[in-house]
Amino acid sequence: MTIEPRELATARYGARSPTRHSTHHHRAMDVKDDERANANANETKTQIVTPWDVEGVDGQGVDYDKLIKEFGCAKITSDMVHRIERATGVRAHPFLRRGMFFAHRELDGILDAYERGEKFYLYTGRGPSSESLHLGHLIPFHFTAWLQRAFKVPLVIQLTDDEKFLWKDLTLEECERLGRENAKDIIACGFDAKRTFIFSDVNYMCTPMYKNMMKIAKCVTLNQVRGIFGFTGDSNIGQVGFPPTQAAPSFPDCFPHMFGENKKSLRCLIPCAIDQDPYFRMTRDVAPRIGGYKPALIESRFFPALKGESGKMSASDASSAIYVTDSPKEIKNKVNKYAFSGGQLTVEDHRRIGGNLDVDISWKWLNFFLEDDEELVKIGEEYSSGRMLSGEIKAKLIDTLVPIVLAHQAARQAVDDALIDEFMSTQPRVFASLFGNMGDIAGALDETTIANAKPGVAIGAPAADGDDEKKIIQIQAQTGENGEPMSKTQQKKLLKDAQIAEKKARIAEEKAAKVKDAEANN
Ligand code: TRP
Repeated sequence: MTIEPRELATARYGARSPTRHSTHHHRAMDVKDDERANANANETKTQIVTPWDVEGVDGQGVDYDKLIKEFGCAKITSDMVHRIERATGVRAHPFLRRGMFFAHRELDGILDAYERGEKFYLYTGRGPSSESLHLGHLIPFHFTAWLQRAFKVPLVIQLTDDEKFLWKDLTLEECERLGRENAKDIIACGFDAKRTFIFSDVNYMCTPMYKNMMKIAKCVTLNQVRGIFGFTGDSNIGQVGFPPTQAAPSFPDCFPHMFGENKKSLRCLIPCAIDQDPYFRMTRDVAPRIGGYKPALIESRFFPALKGESGKMSASDASSAIYVTDSPKEIKNKVNKYAFSGGQLTVEDHRRIGGNLDVDISWKWLNFFLEDDEELVKIGEEYSSGRMLSGEIKAKLIDTLVPIVLAHQAARQAVDDALIDEFMSTQPRVFASLFGNMGDIAGALDETTIANAKPGVAIGAPAADGDDEKKIIQIQAQTGENGEPMSKTQQKKLLKDAQIAEKKARIAEEKAAKVKDAEANN
């Protein structure tokens, strides 16, 4: 998710993008250029985190504290985790207790509102670029399913088939097909069909979502997306124009069949991996100007690759990840053969020095997948003290993963076309039954509510107040043309981003010119 916990940089070039599109070459080049630009400017090297590329400095893992500072989001504190437990009456999910979901934007605002009895909805998504999901892809969905159960709220899931078409060497039809295939894996993560709407961008574009996209698009300039996303003159214009598509579902009036036509009927909380933050930074900046709430975010770290967080990986490397389709035997082989070990070279050394938890992938993955807190602590002690050997912690990981993968395969097997259609249906839902313990109250509705239902609009949803325009004008009057003013730091960051983007573009142009010269001379 992005909540998607991604694999680290190197891994993304490998496992996630076996077919490199030209953009990836460009991005790879940009990184070098960026380094050069920075060296020229006598600055320190920077890590790269965008929705398409994640790269630490010198092959190291991502510095998350630095990322929080750069992006301007906040850390999730243990107080906040306890507050979630109090508000929902449910023990926090291990991903939350153990800091996999570690950053947020305005999560406290959502909790304040929830405690006041206000409603919100969840929004997450997936770019369907391949048929075979790996374990990392499931993490945001398992977490989102937990959020849905804990808070008893509705959820929309965007399949960005258009995004993958624009960024990968795939046909649009293939991306659509992959979206439907991926929907099976997503549904298998345990969502409630009554409260969940899954949609494909290319299919849902004839709805009010498009209106929101246009309103958002009008607020954002080319210079801004260059700064935020690093687009260059070589990006195709579909890519440059894509961000509003991912921004729009943050506003409930995109989904009148679920939430009615009122932009302020609900707040939105987005679980995603932190690489998706740029999209929603942009969305939050625009929100007041189009009359909506800023979406809140709950953001995860990246899921570490099997071969370790620092080593380089080669492209299309099937051994770099465990796929949800792998058999128990394949899981066993891959973990034993490839899981990066923090163990020592000889048993004697290992007993004396102990295993290094900072780099050991079995340990890291157990932190994601082993439910039992006490057992986890014990394994950590045993392994780091040298009493437990590398082969033993790997065996523990295999024993943990196999039942999870088998359960997923069984759940996916049970998803038929009728169930996918139910999740993707735009039939008006009963607004009230999306929240709390009410279940399906369709049968219990009074006659006036039914009589007043508008075609295509959720039954009993708050009516549109038609005052959007007026409110926006009010906001503009209060804050100047641009809606809520950006903070000084935000402005500085945008400016710096734009300068870096410009520098990159200049260097790329110079390079291109040189190549041309060289060609001309040959
Ligand atoms: N861009 C995301 C991806 O490539 C998919 C996505 C769309 C998403 N909307 C989202 C992820 C909202 C998290 C939250 O996977």
